[in-house]
Amino acid sequence: MIKQIAVLPGDGIGPEVTEEAVRLLEEVGKQFGHTFQFQFADIGGCALDKTGTPLPEETLQICRESDAILLGAVGGPKWDHGPGEKRPEAGLLKLRKALQLYANLRPVIVFPALVNASTLKPEVLEGVNLMIIRELTGGLYFGQPRGRKETDEGLAVVDTLYYTEAEIERVLRKAFEIARLRKKHLVSVDKANVLDSSRLWRETADRIGKEYPDVKLEHMLVDNAAMQLIRRPGQFDTVVTENMFGDILSDEAAMLSGSLGMLPSASLSDSGPGLYEPVHGSAPDIAGQNLANPLATFLSVAMMLKYSFNLEQEAQAIEQAIHKVLEDGYRTRDLAQEGERYLTTTEMGEKVRAYL
Ligand code: NAI
Ligand code: MG
Repeated sequence: MIKQIAVLPGDGIGPEVTEEAVRLLEEVGKQFGHTFQFQFADIGGCALDKTGTPLPEETLQICRESDAILLGAVGGPKWDHGPGEKRPEAGLLKLRKALQLYANLRPVIVFPALVNASTLKPEVLEGVNLMIIRELTGGLYFGQPRGRKETDEGLAVVDTLYYTEAEIERVLRKAFEIARLRKKHLVSVDKANVLDSSRLWRETADRIGKEYPDVKLEHMLVDNAAMQLIRRPGQFDTVVTENMFGDILSDEAAMLSGSLGMLPSASLSDSGPGLYEPVHGSAPDIAGQNLANPLATFLSVAMMLKYSFNLEQEAQAIEQAIHKVLEDGYRTRDLAQEGERYLTTTEMGEKVRAYL
């Protein structure tokens, strides 16, 4: 199989972790007989410095022509005080919107070897393997009108939670499809006791659910979901929710695993390339020191192989290699106990390739 991959390293530790991920993909290609071709492009702060915009047209073009996109991270203190559209994150938002990446997949797997990295008790975490699907291109973060204005009662602000039925339907459909590949249990999270947008969400879930009789659909209010994720996370298999609820719940669920350095993500559309990136940011405090944990990016690569290229076996090979490396006690600094020996970014990359 020949695939074109756009690589957007970005800022901070982004280039360090994507470089190892590219090496890993090359190793997968060698072992399984595939050719991965890489095209590198700028996004975020580095793009701002070079071109004055966080998402240059050329980068968007390269992404559009690729089969999948691998992104490191964007941002850093240098650009933190710029105006909205001149901030690195604006590049990411624009990319997601331009490619209609409406479904954000955030898996949380608690690796048995890392069960002590979490602040929760090991018995609560046993067997946790869940997937949160967050709607990514609609809702409160994009709705109009927005902004502030002077009124007779002083300053007032507005944000708008807006969804079309079609936007709700496509992400729910994606969630049912993914639940079908998992344990066939989908929890749809909303706030239907208060919000009209949530009531349409729930009606739509019930309607689409009839087409997936093999998937068990359950509704849960978002405040309850927030509690259940901490109380008994093992009850969840696949979860789907709107943009802002998903933003918050996916970060909450991320902490079950205890380490930002272990969390991958995928953002998918109906046609066109998927975007794969670690959940963490550019980690300016450790950038350039070969200390970053590349495993979140490796797990993102595994998602790319699975969801964009349908290479299930290759994806599993990466996940297995990571399991083994951790089981054998290898750690990057973020995962190591006080005083314990740890591997650098490049050493961890080498180790995973050797175990593959
Ligand atoms: P961060 O995720 O960059 O770092 C938080 C803490 O976790 C830091 O102590 C960092 O050293 C550590 N950490 C993160 N990833 C790690 C890894 N792979 N290995 C080892 N340690 C790791 O979040 P923070 O500090 O809030 O943001 C830093 C910059 O990143 C900001 O400019 C922010 O806007 C940006 N950011 C970008 C994101 C993206 O590109 N998707 C997501 C989150 C933040
Ligand atoms: Mg967030």
